[in-house]
Amino acid sequence: MNKIPMVDVLAWHRPIQKKLEEKAVQVLRSGRFIMGEEVEAFEQEAAQYLGAKYAISCANGTDALVLSLHAAGIGPGDEVLTTGFTFFATVEAIMQVGATPVLVDIDSETFNIDPVELERSITSRCRAVLAVHLFGLPAALNEIQAVCDRHGLKLLEDCAQSFGASYQSRKTGNYGLLGAFSFFPSKNLGGFGDGGLVITSDLQVAETVRMLRNHGSACQYYHECSGYNSRLDEIQAGLLRIKLQYIEEFNNDRRKIAEWYRELLQDTDILCPEEREEHIYHQFTVVLPSGRDMVKKRLAGKGVSSAIYYPLPLNKQRALAGLASEYELPVCEQLSEHCLSLPIYPGMTRGQVESVVGVLVKAMH
Ligand SMILES: Cc1ncc(COP(=O)(O)O)c(C=O)c1O
Repeated sequence: MNKIPMVDVLAWHRPIQKKLEEKAVQVLRSGRFIMGEEVEAFEQEAAQYLGAKYAISCANGTDALVLSLHAAGIGPGDEVLTTGFTFFATVEAIMQVGATPVLVDIDSETFNIDPVELERSITSRCRAVLAVHLFGLPAALNEIQAVCDRHGLKLLEDCAQSFGASYQSRKTGNYGLLGAFSFFPSKNLGGFGDGGLVITSDLQVAETVRMLRNHGSACQYYHECSGYNSRLDEIQAGLLRIKLQYIEEFNNDRRKIAEWYRELLQDTDILCPEEREEHIYHQFTVVLPSGRDMVKKRLAGKGVSSAIYYPLPLNKQRALAGLASEYELPVCEQLSEHCLSLPIYPGMTRGQVESVVGVLVKAMH
């Protein structure tokens, strides 16, 4: 059996490889590499696709979060509520603007922040909620917004894993004041290196992010504040413009693969993510009753990749020692020991999904 990786970017890109290569050559020959036509066009096209008034690109998803928090006025002394089960960058961004994360436990079915726990965790210093749409499934935004409204908190969205996912017919990133996206190559809209984006429909916030990403400057060599050097390259923007044209197909492909997994795993004791139309399956993450690490090893032995997102909840991370030792996040801890993400990417075949499931089911016994 051929090896099955978590993401096969070459298979994913095969149908559009020629267009990508032509665009790369076009940008190389243009001689313009920073803040040119491709970036401008990509920002307009991304804003239109996502349904936001403004889209501002930047160097990566972590910066998109930092720029969003900074533009939302979050800083030293403030606390920001977020999930205890996410990639470290979510809390890293909160700490980079000088604020303190408050970790909240998750819902065991969605892997996303639990709105009841969210409300119980609010302190007098909380200024905002940073909701994460983990694995491509939107968090419970209505309930989260209601908590924010009751307590005067700003809502920000970490959409690094949810490009194109909708919640009640609006794309994620539009629900809060700002939405932050990542174009890390494995993401649903994956680039060819690092890249990020902030969306908002608030003009003042958009102008602040635009200034911050370019050294606090709106007009060259005139600086309104101290900012960052966080720009998307022309070549990335050009290539992302091509992939953006196919994002609906890519996400539908992921949905179809998820359906295959669900069908083939239905008579096992492996828990699959529930079928939900808003899910875009950045990851297909199952919950195993026991023996997760052994199963992962057995899969690897048969050439099937799998990944543990995430092996350690944030309250157990050494980087947050002191701060996080006070948190008990039982659902995060339980899922971190039982979750396993299986290969999924546009272009993955039914035969490959059958192979993964065949090996997985055998590995369980
Ligand atoms: C939930 C989440 N937030 C933030 C990030 C950071 O994005 P980047 O790697 O582009 O900085 C990631 C990327 O892995 C992520 O998964």
